[in-house]
Amino acid sequence: MAPGAAAAGAEFLVTARPESWELAWEDVRAADGGARLGQSVAPGVFLVAATLDAAALSERLQRRGPFVRHLFSVHYRVSPGFAPAVWADAGKALAGRLDPALGAGLQLRWVGQGPLPPWVMDLRRTLDTALQQCGAPPGGPAPPQAISVVASEAGAWMGTSPTWHNLSPWSGGAAPTSRVGAVSRAASKLLEALRMFDLPWPQSGRALDLGAAPGGWTGVLVERGLSVVAVDPAALAEPWAHHPHVAHHRETAEAYAQRPRAPGDSVQLLVNDMRLEAAYSARCMAMLSGRLQSGGLAVMTLKLHEVRRRRQVREAVRILESEYTVAGCRQLYHNRSEVTLALMRH
Ligand SMILES: C[S@@+](CC[C@H](N)C(=O)[O-])C[C@H]1O[C@@H](n2cnc3c(N)ncnc32)[C@H](O)[C@@H]1O
Repeated sequence: MAPGAAAAGAEFLVTARPESWELAWEDVRAADGGARLGQSVAPGVFLVAATLDAAALSERLQRRGPFVRHLFSVHYRVSPGFAPAVWADAGKALAGRLDPALGAGLQLRWVGQGPLPPWVMDLRRTLDTALQQCGAPPGGPAPPQAISVVASEAGAWMGTSPTWHNLSPWSGGAAPTSRVGAVSRAASKLLEALRMFDLPWPQSGRALDLGAAPGGWTGVLVERGLSVVAVDPAALAEPWAHHPHVAHHRETAEAYAQRPRAPGDSVQLLVNDMRLEAAYSARCMAMLSGRLQSGGLAVMTLKLHEVRRRRQVREAVRILESEYTVAGCRQLYHNRSEVTLALMRH
């Protein structure tokens, strides 16, 4: 692609956790065997020349690309030294690709060193103006379509897309962390999964929360109208420790699984954030699948050791598939050394 000009082929700017970028690149290669790795723009942010178009690539990655957090199709590349008129033309062309009937947003990320330099501020103003003039209503932090920009000292890569092509509606896949504190940091993982996996979350009934302490996920579930059976040898924090809709079993999931079941005591949702080796945690899920109503939804995190992470995911998925259909598997923004799975019980 000539700098400042529209991209000739399908070029994508891919974002992953910095320590997962090689796995993300493998995911892209598995989705598109003809893809070629391009320049690294920043840790975890790299260019890819693909043979697939954006819809096909993102559709494949949705199904089997756990380590890609975000991508967008690059339509323009500009450099810091360009005349403002070049930016204005690129801005108009990018905004012209938007559907004016849908909400839109500018998602600009500076991945260089230090604070935002003046040329990026100018670029942002130019793109904001183009966005306002195109007539699309503001789409908020998670718009249905976006002008995506990644800027570094070397220049800016820009593209327009519906955000479902990007694998995430948030800028760079960075889901907002709405609250602070240890309980809430954990809660952000479940809130992000709720948003990311488009699944039928139960509005009422009971949830079984494995590895519930200190209570972030329990809190999210209670706030969404569920009563919670919380299982964890560790203590829950207030207000969940003494909440009328929370029953805490201070024991391991394995011990809980040995308890005799009362008839009709199945739950509508099963969640698991236990700090356990991935395959072992998957076995616990298989062991407790009978507690979840048939067709019910489960969400779990798989904690991954640093080496052979893909193998750990595959092994856990193989175990889970005896009892569940895997509906989603992603390394979400709030996941550190883990991935989040959405499962439906057979
Ligand atoms: C990451 S924390 C869970 C955080 C929790 N989801 C929240 O939102 O607050 C992991 C928890 O797994 C629990 N855990 C580890 N092994 C377990 C087991 N075998 N059975 C039940 N809980 C277990 C730990 O006690 C710890 O509280």
